[in-house]
This record gives sequence, C-alpha cells and structure tokens, in this order.
Amino acid sequence: MARTSPKAASRTKYGMAKAAAIYLLNARWQRLFGQPLAYNYVTLGGANLHDVCGLGFVDKTLVERVQSFETEENLFKAATRKAKKLSGLAGITVVNENIFDYVRRDPQPHIFFFDFKRACVKATYSENFADLFRKDVIRTGDTVLITSYRGIRNGWPNIVQEHQNEFGQLKIPTGDYKTCYMQCHPSFMLYDALSTAGQLGKRRLRSFGYIKYHDTTPMGLYGYFVENGKTDFKNFIKDEALRSFNMSKRRLIA
Ligand SMILES: C[S@@+](CC[C@H](N)C(=O)[O-])C[C@H]1O[C@@H](n2cnc3c(N)ncnc32)[C@H](O)[C@@H]1O
Repeated sequence: MARTSPKAASRTKYGMAKAAAIYLLNARWQRLFGQPLAYNYVTLGGANLHDVCGLGFVDKTLVERVQSFETEENLFKAATRKAKKLSGLAGITVVNENIFDYVRRDPQPHIFFFDFKRACVKATYSENFADLFRKDVIRTGDTVLITSYRGIRNGWPNIVQEHQNEFGQLKIPTGDYKTCYMQCHPSFMLYDALSTAGQLGKRRLRSFGYIKYHDTTPMGLYGYFVENGKTDFKNFIKDEALRSFNMSKRRLIA
C-alpha cells in the first residue's frame, strides 16, 4: 500500500479542516436561506477549484454559472486546465482579474466566496466591499462567504486601535477583545463598507455562521446573507441567526 509522507499527510489534514468548515457553513446556509433557484457562484477557487466541486455535490444548479477569479498567472493557468476537466460537472469561467472588478450582469442571486488568506479587516477591504455595495454587485438575496486569517501578526496594538470604536459600542471588556476580534472582524469590515456605501438603511446584513479552524495558520470562515431592511450594528453582530463552531474541537462555541 502506498505510504503518505508526513508532509503530505499534514497538508491533507489541514486541507480537510477547511473543506469541512466550508461544507458545514454551506449546510447552514442551505437550511436558513438557500432556495431551489439558479444561482451564480463567484469565487476565489485557486488552482484546484475544490470549493466548486463541493458545491456541485450539493446541487448541480449551484455550479452551472461559476466565475473564479485568480490574479496569479500560474494559478490562473492551472485553474483554467482544471475548469476544462470539470466541464462535464460545472460551468466554470476562470478570470485572470481581481475579484473586486467583477461586473454583474445576471439578476439571479449570487453566492460570493471571498476565500482570502489574509485578514479581512476594514483597513484592507472596506473600500472594496463598499464599491461592490454601491454598484449593486452585492445586493438583496445574495450570500457572502469570507475566509479570513484570524491571527494577530499584523500587530495587536494596531488591531485594537482599528477596532476601538466597535469594541466600545459593544461594551466588550478588554480581556475579551481578542475573542471578539476573531469572531467579528469581517463583520466589522462589512458594516463599515455598507455604511460607506450609504446603504445601512436599505439592506439588512445577516450574520449566520462563524467557523474557527486551523489551516497552516489560524483561520475563520464567516457567512452572511443580504436581506431588504436596515442594518443595526449591535443586532448584526449579535444576530439571532449566528452560530459559531470550533472545528478543532468539533463543537459549537457557546
Ligand atoms: C485560499 S486560495 C483559494 C482556495 C480554493 N477556494 C479552494 O477551496 O481550494 C485564494 C486564491 O485567490 C487568489 N486571490 C486572492 N485575492 C484575490 C483577488 N482579490 N482577486 C483575484 N484573486 C485573488 C489567490 O492568488 C489564491 O490563489
């Protein structure tokens, strides 16, 4: 029997925690917001398009119109080859552009998967997302999934300074800042983006899932759904739909 090298084994292990996080969050989305409709799937599928394959297992109609963005030339080429191999299972167009340049042409609901490796914080991404809200690229009926680095290598004092306003509004004790940051930083970013776009009174962001997992670094997967209505900061952060899961311990976070 072929033996797996320790290096390959550890790659597989980390990969599976992420895959499991994606599948779990998907299941929660299906249960709460998924409709038997045609969707457009806009993703950062990387070279292997693994997330597209998982979604295609759930329902073929979810992957009939996929656009995967990839800025790295070599990964773009590899993804294009992979998309060709998958052509019997999914309709994938790989685009050698920035995902924030996505131009929406279809009215049907979208699932966006911003599968980032870095921290999805206000300072880095708020303007990009504000633009997507402003241009109606992300709109009511859409789902936004975000992967974010939840470690603190950017410097904890900087992180605290950037989120002082949010911690203050939520009245978080100083000792709980880190946990709050890990659970909420992409929500802080999305709220800021929606506010910058002037759409707090027009769209209600729902936060329905946070999955803490460990890849090669500490990561989080976050799920959001866009409804008609208003977004109130505290209600959004403490959304009644929000559930949190610790993948390493395989249990709900209270
Ligand atoms: C985490 S990987 C994707 C993994 C993939 N979703 C999977 O499940 O196998 C993210 C990919 O997106 C690319 N990327 C990151 N930010 C991007 C952006 N703004 N626009 C286009 N590509 C981007 C990176 O080069 C990388 O290949």
